[in-house]
Amino acid sequence: MDFAELVMHRRTVRRFEDTPVDRSVLEGIARLAQRTPSAGFSQGQRLVIVTDPKQRRRVAETCGESGYDEAGFGRWISECAAQFIPCVSEGIYHRRYQEPDKLDDDGSEIDWPTPYWWVDIGKTSMVLMLAAHDAGLAAGFAGPQDVPALKAVLGLPDEFHPVGVIPVGRPLPDKRSPSLKRGWLPLGEFAHWERW
Ligand SMILES: Cc1cc2nc3c(=O)[nH]c(=O)nc-3n(C[C@H](O)[C@H](O)[C@H](O)COP(=O)(O)O)c2cc1C
Repeated sequence: MDFAELVMHRRTVRRFEDTPVDRSVLEGIARLAQRTPSAGFSQGQRLVIVTDPKQRRRVAETCGESGYDEAGFGRWISECAAQFIPCVSEGIYHRRYQEPDKLDDDGSEIDWPTPYWWVDIGKTSMVLMLAAHDAGLAAGFAGPQDVPALKAVLGLPDEFHPVGVIPVGRPLPDKRSPSLKRGWLPLGEFAHWERW
């Protein structure tokens, strides 16, 4: 698919067929998501990919799936082909930036202008969602409501933080988010030329 078309047609989908997708397709999505840049090439981003139905239900409950179901969205977090959970370790960035080529002149770790670990895992998530769309599938994004529970379900090493659960699968008609009524900002409000 043409890149502009891919970006313009992607949307957050909240209903999927509960049918499997070939592991090679899921791996292809993971491979593209891995190819996102990271500050200092720290590569602090990781993915957990969940296909087992019981495990998907456990993961979905940490994102409040019952509440979505009661609100008419259905079980869109557990009923899918696979859940991709992007995780990031802030510690990996600190360790990378304590290596000699990254130290300040006075030998100390930089004063982080921005927490780049959050920047990088956001990029990973976006490439992942676009890769799913490009593979003829769709993706959603559910924020975890109980991070410790999600970490326990996934057996994450303590230093990794799961930023969301991205269900991926063949799309079905879904209930649209009421947030969309806000509409897109005009381009002129988003993009400023030469200076703000
Ligand atoms: C960081 C982030 C967190 C989000 N969390 C949720 C969520 O918890 N539940 C949900 O239904 N949608 C969630 N969304 C989806 C947004 O509501 C959605 O991206 C936005 O309304 C724009 O719609 P679109 O992706 O279809 O263009 C999240 C999106 C992002 C980027």
